[in-house]
Amino acid sequence: MTRGRLIVLEGIDGSGTTTQTERLVACLRQQGRTAVSTREPSGGPIGRLLREVLLGQHRMPAGGSVDGRTMALLFAADRLDHLQREVEPILAEGSDVVSDRYLMSSLAYQAEEADREWVALLARGVRPPDLTILLDIPVELAAQRRHLAGRPEERYDADSYLGRVADNYRRLARAAGSAVILDGSASRDEVAVAVVAAVQARFASTATP
Ligand code: TYD
Repeated sequence: MTRGRLIVLEGIDGSGTTTQTERLVACLRQQGRTAVSTREPSGGPIGRLLREVLLGQHRMPAGGSVDGRTMALLFAADRLDHLQREVEPILAEGSDVVSDRYLMSSLAYQAEEADREWVALLARGVRPPDLTILLDIPVELAAQRRHLAGRPEERYDADSYLGRVADNYRRLARAAGSAVILDGSASRDEVAVAVVAAVQARFASTATP
């Protein structure tokens, strides 16, 4: 059986990765493929712990917040758990997996709170995605969208931090062979069309079942 494809949506908080993950899965299904959406932090035990920390509910005994290196380890651990429990079995069945965030999130976010080389080392040997789509959007627009959606303020939501994360994302996506950068500031429908076009272009030469 042909393995499924691992397609990842990336971008700063408020860039639309969650919406576009769902839209892409719906479109792939319309095209007759089996496709499953997933996300990181995952729904597993380490992912749930991470969500608590991101919302600031999880304080260290001494009262300080969780250190950046610990965050990098937790995200890396959640990724391995997510891959082993969810992603790999689905791909092995021949279904596509569309993930709302994956490896590039760690390289873009944790590189700002832990040593960049060390963060890259943690990512080494982890299954690379077949395609990463970066939704590039100005930090101010992303903040406006989060506000309009009523999303609670999270650990990384300061504009200054997300500005550096956005720069990291652009640099990483330009350097990666299997990544494309799309304008995430367009309307949802326009972005959805561009995402589908990017997927078709990426796999045009690959035989699909
Ligand atoms: P987000 O994707 O916005 O999920 P939700 O919609 O459930 O809030 O939040 C996840 C946050 O975690 C986001 O700020 C990015 C961050 N993150 C990292 O810093 N590193 C990672 O490896 C991953 C997967 C996420």
